Amino acid sequence: MFISFEGIDGSGKSTQLTLLREVLEDRGLRTLTVREPGATVLSEEIRSILLSNKQSITSTAELLLFNAARAQLVERVIVPALERREIVLCDRYSDSTTAYQGYGRQLDLGEVRTCNNIATRGIMPRVTFFIDVPYEAAQQRMSFHTTSGGPDRMERSGPEFFDRVRAGYLEIAAAEPHRFHVIDGVRDRDVIHADIVAVVTAALSTL
Ligand SMILES: Nc1ncnc2c1ncn2[C@@H]1O[C@H](COP(=O)(O)OP(=O)(O)OP(=O)(O)O)[C@@H](O)[C@H]1O
Ligand SMILES: [Mg+2]
Repeated sequence: MFISFEGIDGSGKSTQLTLLREVLEDRGLRTLTVREPGATVLSEEIRSILLSNKQSITSTAELLLFNAARAQLVERVIVPALERREIVLCDRYSDSTTAYQGYGRQLDLGEVRTCNNIATRGIMPRVTFFIDVPYEAAQQRMSFHTTSGGPDRMERSGPEFFDRVRAGYLEIAAAEPHRFHVIDGVRDRDVIHADIVAVVTAALSTL
């Protein structure tokens, strides 16, 4: 089973992924956690290029780099784990590219989808959680955990960018209601976690 977490920066994706993994492992299920971009040597190197503030990157180059990292991850890590029947927990996946490069950077949505499909080979999550938090709330959360060096290149995009990204996620969710679960992220983390566990438990029961 393939599960992904989506949302703008600081929305609580990693927090919820970790809480879910603990529950699944307590139930004796085998999980594999990966983050995007990342989780292979090549993909982590591409990640450092993408998040570095050393240079500006065109929107098209950004689209291709995210998908190059993804192609390596899908073929080398995700597909083998799914074949071993593990539960793959992915911190961002191709919906991030649709939301950020398609809606946020305003690249052609058809081209973004084509590019994503080349990278994913059509391998999509069974369940995707969109942790929905307004930009201001997410910014406030991020200011509490001061990471080294301040905001990365993507996080430096302004509020209008993130408003487009969030609206984009909601459009993707409306188009795929069976896969996409919109989770109100402006609540206590345990309350959000309970919603997520309920959805995953139901999905596991249909396997
Ligand atoms: N429901 C919540 N209420 C309040 N704070 C939260 C909640 N969930 C997570 N946080 C806090 O908000 C911050 C961001 O959370 P987290 O790192 O999980 O977000 P993220 O979506 O993974 O961010 P990024 O995109 O930067 O990786 C953390 O300090 C976390 O402890
Ligand atoms: Mg995170």
